[in-house]
Amino acid sequence: MIGKKIAAAFNEQMNRELYSSYLYLSMAAYFHSAKLDGFAGWMRVQAKEEDLHAMKFFEHLRDRGARIALEQIDKPKGVWKSPLEAFRAAYEHERFITSKINGLYLLAERESDYAAKVFLDWFVKEQVEEEATASGVVNTLERIKGSGDGIVMLDRELGTREFHG
Ligand code: FEO
Repeated sequence: MIGKKIAAAFNEQMNRELYSSYLYLSMAAYFHSAKLDGFAGWMRVQAKEEDLHAMKFFEHLRDRGARIALEQIDKPKGVWKSPLEAFRAAYEHERFITSKINGLYLLAERESDYAAKVFLDWFVKEQVEEEATASGVVNTLERIKGSGDGIVMLDRELGTREFHG
């Protein structure tokens, strides 16, 4: 069994992960419309990973006999001024998610929910990677400074990302 507070907080986080997927899919659509299919491909892989994150919460709730509550997913933004602005937004979003995961960890500690803590360990590590990846692309884009050749090269590189489900 799982405590009511943790179950509610995990359901909320599942919704945030689904929103993350929706946000990155929206960024993918933006990049496709900007004819940057490599950037778009990268975002589509990212969206799939977020689905996977949501399903981890879904399954944890199921395994512990909690009610799984699917709520409305907010409409994501659809347009950004530049690839740099989109990736800055992605990085900010990941920092926000990290703060939420840390909050869940604290709650699990307060509630002495060891199963939740062990489950969340994976997310704590994952968020380090998520932030590092997004900020890495932000740094590259800042160095490129909008140069056409630089963007084309980065588009090619980002397009090689594969989904490992
Ligand atoms: Fe599910 Fe990108 O954090």
